[in-house]
Parts: sequence; C-alpha cells; structure tokens
Amino acid sequence: MGIRITPSILNANLADLNAEIARIPSADGVHLDVMDNRFVPNLTFGLPMVECVRAGTDKLLDIHLMIAEVDRWAPGYAEAGAESVTFHVEASDAPVKLSRELRALGARASMGLRPATPIEPYADLLPELDMVLLMTVEPGFGGQSFLDVMLPKIRRTRALLDAHGGDIWLQVDGGISEQTIERCVEAGADTFVAGSAVYRADDPDAVVRALKVQAEDAAAHRA
Ligand code: DX5
Ligand code: ZN
Repeated sequence: MGIRITPSILNANLADLNAEIARIPSADGVHLDVMDNRFVPNLTFGLPMVECVRAGTDKLLDIHLMIAEVDRWAPGYAEAGAESVTFHVEASDAPVKLSRELRALGARASMGLRPATPIEPYADLLPELDMVLLMTVEPGFGGQSFLDVMLPKIRRTRALLDAHGGDIWLQVDGGISEQTIERCVEAGADTFVAGSAVYRADDPDAVVRALKVQAEDAAAHRA
C-alpha cells in the first residue's frame, strides 16, 4: 500500500500560497479546499486562485471541491491542470458523467463523502473513480477533532476497494495528525490530508516527513 501525504493549506497563509507550498517539499501533493458558502458554511477561493497556484508549482494539485452545482464547476479545475479533482457525491447530479469528464480532461476523478453519507450505495461507481475521499470531520473548517466513528466506514471502503481491485486511492480528510494517522492506516486509508497539524507547526515539512514515516510503519504492520 503506497502512502501519500497531501497537506491542506486551509490553515496556511492564503495570501501567499505558492510560498506556503514551497515549505512542504516532502509532501506528495497539496490539497486545496474550495468552499462556496453553500455546500459548506465557509468561503475560501475558486478557480482563478487555483490557476495562479498552478502557474507557480509543479506539485500534484489535489482539489477538494466543497461546492454546490459541482457538475458545472469541477471540469474547469481539470482544465486548469489539477492532477486530482474531488467532487462531493452529495452535490453531484451525475457523478458517473462527471467522473468521465474529469478523466477525459486528464485528471484523476475522486468522489468525496460527508461523514453521514454511506459508501455502499456508490460501490458500483468505483470503476469510474481514481480516489475516494472520506471526510473524518464535518466539512467546512480546519482544526476540528478527528471523528473516531468514521473508522468502520474506512474499513468497509477498504474492503470494497480491495474487492474491486485496481489502484484507487483512499483519502481521509479532517483531524489527521500524529495522534490519529495510525488508526486510519490500520483501517485501510492510504492518502492523508493534514491541515492544522502541518501548518500550525514551526517546521511544516518535518511534520509531513514524520506523518509519512508513521503511516508507512503502520502500513507495514498491517500487511
Ligand atoms: C475541511 C477541509 C480539510 C481541512 C483539514 O473541510 O476539507 O481539508 O483543511 O484540516 P485539519 O487537518 O486541520 O482537520
Ligand atoms: Zn479538504
């Protein structure tokens, strides 16, 4: 199981994102949280900002769209050159069509689920996907506590992915830190968003490296 750490810049200096991204050279990608104050009760930035970030970095851009009418807006992020685009299934009218569009534009297609959304009704969509994002806090804000009640869903999702085969990443997002990452690895996650744990530290890259070592050790014990 490959381990990836994709820090969220939500708690970084949003006015200087490329400089903030340069502080995490060990990260496998950077997770950009797009919020519209409709799907979630918070507002961040949109496509023009992501285009500027793209122009300033070669890092894998992992776009997390927490927006309404996502079918209309998501393809633009793939066109802008983002390597991975996550739409929330609760906000999509046609997730299969959208995933195909994202892939046709060269991006990885990823489906996000709020904590209360079960994975099982969407199991048949797995062939259309490159990643599943499970929220481990209610989406909207960084710095919240990890929801342990999500561990069974991570396990069930891992079982569905293993049964499906292929290489679909399983990302967890919310409250991931050195205190919680091992539980998530044991449950089957392989891709980790950590926001406040990374950017509230004096040395963000040291935290990224520590999380990766911790997760790789836990994954080796799981295997
Ligand atoms: C929350 C966002 C997360 C958030 C994670 O809705 O999707 O990506 O930035 O932040 P932490 O790691 O602080 O929970
Ligand atoms: Zn996120």
